[in-house]
Amino acid sequence: MWGSTKIRKHLWNREFAKGRWNCLDETPEDCVYCYVEKYCKGGSILDLGCGSGNTGNELDVNKYQDYTGVDVSDVAIQKAMERTKRVGRCEKNHYFQSDIYTYLPRKKYDVILFRDSIYYIPQPRIDPTLDRYSNYLTEHGVFIVRIFDGENHARVVSGIEHSFEIAEKYVSPNTNLAGMKQGEAKPNREETIVMRSQGSMFLERTIAP
Ligand SMILES: C[S@@+](CC[C@H](N)C(=O)[O-])C[C@H]1O[C@@H](n2cnc3c(N)ncnc32)[C@H](O)[C@@H]1O
Repeated sequence: MWGSTKIRKHLWNREFAKGRWNCLDETPEDCVYCYVEKYCKGGSILDLGCGSGNTGNELDVNKYQDYTGVDVSDVAIQKAMERTKRVGRCEKNHYFQSDIYTYLPRKKYDVILFRDSIYYIPQPRIDPTLDRYSNYLTEHGVFIVRIFDGENHARVVSGIEHSFEIAEKYVSPNTNLAGMKQGEAKPNREETIVMRSQGSMFLERTIAP
């Protein structure tokens, strides 16, 4: 969904209002959580393209100090805030309706997460966007990028791997989507990539399909 912020906001609002993303409401077993909890080390998380509040409300509440969710859709942000209130995380979780391209963080974070949001950024803008946000990583901070279908977004994955120091990478076994009958559609391959904008650590863990 490219175009102006106003168009993006309108299109995403329409999708959330129609229930297109209700499938993401409850994702307690998601593969990205253990990486976010591991790398934030009890610190701060910035979630860019946070959606309707799954990450901020499903992470172990004792594993982070504060969480900031940013999304272009105010319908999604409203849902996220309501859920946060319901589960009593208002002290820790804060939300902003804003575009990833223009959002200005107010502090540095231990983890900056793009959970199934990076591939909505056109390829030529991914590196400059990550470069800008790297100014808001703490000294040992990392980006974590989760990609629902790594095969389909191979160019995004290889672009990231070319430009950044990969700290850790997880590739899921090919899994069928929930509710999808065997052979009905191509299974997806989820990828979670942890990377630093600088540093020297290289550790890759790949579970082959
Ligand atoms: C597939 S949903 C994923 C939502 C959430 N991260 C999750 O995993 O459940 C993609 C999200 O990215 C947001 N998004 C897309 N482009 C954006 C942009 N330029 N700025 C802010 N949010 C954006 C959408 O509104 C949507 O909530």
